[in-house]
Amino acid sequence: MNHIQFKNTSIAYTDTGKGTVIVLLHGFLENQKMWDNYIVPFSKKNRVITIDLLGHGETECLGYVHSMEDNADAVHAVLAELRIRKAILVGHSMGGYVALAFAELYPENVKGVALLNSTARADSEERKLNRDRAIRAVKQSYIGFVSLAVANLFSENNRERLAAEIEYTKKEALKTPLQAIVASLEGMKIRNDREVLLHLTNFPKLLVLGEKDPILPFEETKEQIENTEVELVTFPDGHMSYIENQEELTKVLLHFFKKV
Ligand code: MLT
Repeated sequence: MNHIQFKNTSIAYTDTGKGTVIVLLHGFLENQKMWDNYIVPFSKKNRVITIDLLGHGETECLGYVHSMEDNADAVHAVLAELRIRKAILVGHSMGGYVALAFAELYPENVKGVALLNSTARADSEERKLNRDRAIRAVKQSYIGFVSLAVANLFSENNRERLAAEIEYTKKEALKTPLQAIVASLEGMKIRNDREVLLHLTNFPKLLVLGEKDPILPFEETKEQIENTEVELVTFPDGHMSYIENQEELTKVLLHFFKKV
């Protein structure tokens, strides 16, 4: 694991392989270990960078609100340090929000964007209220909140089959400090709507959705790519396609990288 300093904060990243640069961005309560099974297949023909977002994994907290733009700036600082001019960004959920913020701030550095179980839309009023509830809940019961939040990301019919993976995901999630959880929830709550990027950007875009995603309603999320050139791939499971549909997702992403 490597580190750079960004605004007095240590940002952790890995750098593997040679070729087109692929930047992998994890979601809320995750860290770059989520990509462990993807680095080998992806780095055969590409240079793969994984980054721990603010307050997650080995990256420190930057403040009490981690906006998607703060995270995008941290990603940009890593790429600048590595002298990388253009990259394909792959973001899982919150990582997708960061990828879109990056694309808005640094369009010249983007070769393509893949959003996994993510959306370009801002939080609805109801979701914003849920964020406030979540902030209260995690302050009251940190372990209870994290355990429930992780289990709820998998489709119900996979919770038994993937019990070991859910346990591992929880164990990693419990490494996220309370400050980072609150700062991310606050940051996601205030994020901008970026649907316009799906319509107006020229780089290739991919959206991967789970039909039974418990936190991103499938039909509603799918609507946003109507009349766009965004490629859509759907899986029959939940929010955790990278675990629930690992083999298929690997193929889909390798195909996307080749096309870009
Ligand atoms: C994530 O998986 O990154 C988050 O749950 C996304 C969100 O809460 O909007």
